[in-house]
Amino acid sequence: MTTQLSVSGIELELFRYPSRQESNLQAWDAADEHLIKHLIDTEQTAVSTAIVNDGFGALTAGLLSITPDWPLTLETDAKTSLLGTTENLARNQLNEDSLTWVNSRDELPQGIELVLMKLPKNLNYFSHQLKRLSQVLPAGTQVLIGAKAKSINKSLLETISRNLGEASASLTWKKTRVITCIADGKARSLPTTTNWSVSECKLQISNLSNVFAASKLDIGARIMLDNMPKGDFKSIVDLGCGNGILGLHAKQCFPEAYVHFIDDSEMAVASAKDNWALNDLDNPTLVGEQATFCWDDCLTHMNEGFRPDLILCNPPFHQGEAITDHIAWQMFLDSFRRLKNGGILHVVGNRHLAYHVKLQRIFKNCTTVASNGKFVILQAQKISKKAQEPELDTDSATDQTSDTPHPQSALYGKPNA
Ligand SMILES: C[S@@+](CC[C@H](N)C(=O)[O-])C[C@H]1O[C@@H](n2cnc3c(N)ncnc32)[C@H](O)[C@@H]1O
Repeated sequence: MTTQLSVSGIELELFRYPSRQESNLQAWDAADEHLIKHLIDTEQTAVSTAIVNDGFGALTAGLLSITPDWPLTLETDAKTSLLGTTENLARNQLNEDSLTWVNSRDELPQGIELVLMKLPKNLNYFSHQLKRLSQVLPAGTQVLIGAKAKSINKSLLETISRNLGEASASLTWKKTRVITCIADGKARSLPTTTNWSVSECKLQISNLSNVFAASKLDIGARIMLDNMPKGDFKSIVDLGCGNGILGLHAKQCFPEAYVHFIDDSEMAVASAKDNWALNDLDNPTLVGEQATFCWDDCLTHMNEGFRPDLILCNPPFHQGEAITDHIAWQMFLDSFRRLKNGGILHVVGNRHLAYHVKLQRIFKNCTTVASNGKFVILQAQKISKKAQEPELDTDSATDQTSDTPHPQSALYGKPNA
């Protein structure tokens, strides 16, 4: 795996997040290099700049290498981007003092004079981000969007023109192009949420634009709803919660339980929280809070005492554009570490992903609970004997631990209400 970015005299060492993932994936792509090269070729000065969708900080580190106090607003929906960027800045001795972080629902600041953006995979989310920019950018502001040449077509340029201002694409360099959009100064209204219901469970589901399976129930989630585990669960985690569908249904099945919703996407966490309220899931016979909603990377920052008895998980098999199984590995390893003795990890996956091999390796047991042609539901139980600690020097397992408590860690380990 290459970790040295070298373009137009800028030299950086960059890792994906978590940095210990065993994959050949790079922390940046040629579109990042193209954007940095474009700024250097055009002798761009360090005006107030927004960087949107910087994967693991290549653009941010690039600009800070040109001018160490370049005023930057960084917008991301992914916690792993925020954590990865922070690590990469420290690795390259770059100072964070001129940075302001926002997520994709926070208000963008006024006074932005330049925007650098990476084209995200989800085009509904992209349109949403353009509309957000249209609300704060004065007419004439330049927005530079880096993307693979094959992703750029007439319809994409029309989407940009419709939502922000006229757009045109550069010549191709390393199979990428830089799209230049000039904001027209007209504010667009933000899109509404996408709403649908799951009638069998009597659940209303509302989805912000960057939520997984925002337009309809995922088929993996569907078989999970039909095959919830049996038991007397008191502390349940919906790991990689998306809109929260699994945790919401778990609360219907186990009304005494406390549910922790966790996702890398801030919009997902916000949607899960909205859906909890929308479906009125607080059990009136219990006192106090019955759910937490955490924007986090797997279970990395849960506090030490956190010991759930059930973890529900429909793992992702990509990170941004990249297909990878390292997040599933990390979710399974984190689950093994955090579950209480006897606790259960209940997982759905496409049959060909062969999650049973990973679960067997980590938990030393794995049962098939249900299956259809395409999907399987697997269950692994934590049986805590020292001898059964998983080997962590696996080919692609991520041994992700943290000694640094998250500022909100007190929230994470709350006992059941
Ligand atoms: C296959 S989707 C499942 C969503 C939802 N549970 C469902 O069944 O519809 C996987 C989810 O994992 C989230 N995710 C990806 N990487 C993550 C990470 N490192 N930590 C926590 N969640 C992550 C994604 O944002 C996505 O919402």
